[in-house]
Amino acid sequence: MKRTIGIMTSGGDAPGMNAAIRAVARSGLARGFEVYGIMDGFKGLVEGNYYKMNKGSVSDILFKGGTILGTARMPQFIDDDVQHEAIAQMEKVGMDSLVVIGGDGSYRGAGALCKKGISCIGIPGTIDNDCPGTDFTIGFHTALQTILDAVDKLRDTSASHHRCSVVEVMGNHCGDLALYSAICCGAEIAITPEVGFDQAEVIARLKHFDEIKKHRHAIVIVSEKLTDVEKLSEIISRETSFAGRATVLGHIQRGGSPVAADRLLASRIGDYAVEVLANGGSNRCIGIRNDEIVSTPIAEALIQPREFKQDLYTMFERLA
Ligand code: F6P
Repeated sequence: MKRTIGIMTSGGDAPGMNAAIRAVARSGLARGFEVYGIMDGFKGLVEGNYYKMNKGSVSDILFKGGTILGTARMPQFIDDDVQHEAIAQMEKVGMDSLVVIGGDGSYRGAGALCKKGISCIGIPGTIDNDCPGTDFTIGFHTALQTILDAVDKLRDTSASHHRCSVVEVMGNHCGDLALYSAICCGAEIAITPEVGFDQAEVIARLKHFDEIKKHRHAIVIVSEKLTDVEKLSEIISRETSFAGRATVLGHIQRGGSPVAADRLLASRIGDYAVEVLANGGSNRCIGIRNDEIVSTPIAEALIQPREFKQDLYTMFERLA
């Protein structure tokens, strides 16, 4: 019997998700699978909101931001009955396999369906770079570039005014966007969840950059959900000679055309996901490790501790 794959995007969108959808669809069709696109993540699956795809369904999407399939967060999917509803919808068109593009929450949904006999593969799609089983997630490099473009502009005006730009970036409890952007834009300070926020230390270090190192301006990159950047800017204005100015980059980091690194990663991971399914694999998530595309059992990946890149942080401090 012909095998049928459903593709969905789930959780927060990320640039490169479309490139991954294209890769899964085209690789699936090329290997003789039937392919369905599922709208709005697990919610669309439960509602039977899917359509049959052909090669043309994914034309001209490789370079587009967002996701043509739409996405949603569906916490109710942990419910057994909801999962059975999803499976009933899949059975209507003989959909035996599912490729879920999203973060670790999406992997949990996929893992639950695997336990009920569906072949599922997870693909890491999020700007946060916090997915298990991979060095990089699809969307991370585009979000990073967006941050760099913004901070480069902020630096121009900061330097003219002897100001300190305090820039909040996303990451959802993962400091990679903050750390990598701080390195790439030559920030003075990076505040990440892994290192923690110590207000007194931030002020002391800014005074050092100002009084000893004679910096005309300063950039502080702060991971979201750690502190109020408006308040921190006021404190900087009060306690140092820099005038603090806060910028919350927000959802601008989630949009835009994916950069080459994300297009390539999405294409490689998407194609490999179908290869794993074609070889009878299931319940695995795909990733990249040392530039090699690999797959890991979802349950194993989900309990792996996330490693903080201490060596990169130490290097950042040396160069600041
Ligand atoms: O997971 C991606 C992400 O953009 C996080 O960085 C952020 O914390 C969260 O999603 C924002 O979620 P929402 O778009 O639902 O406000």
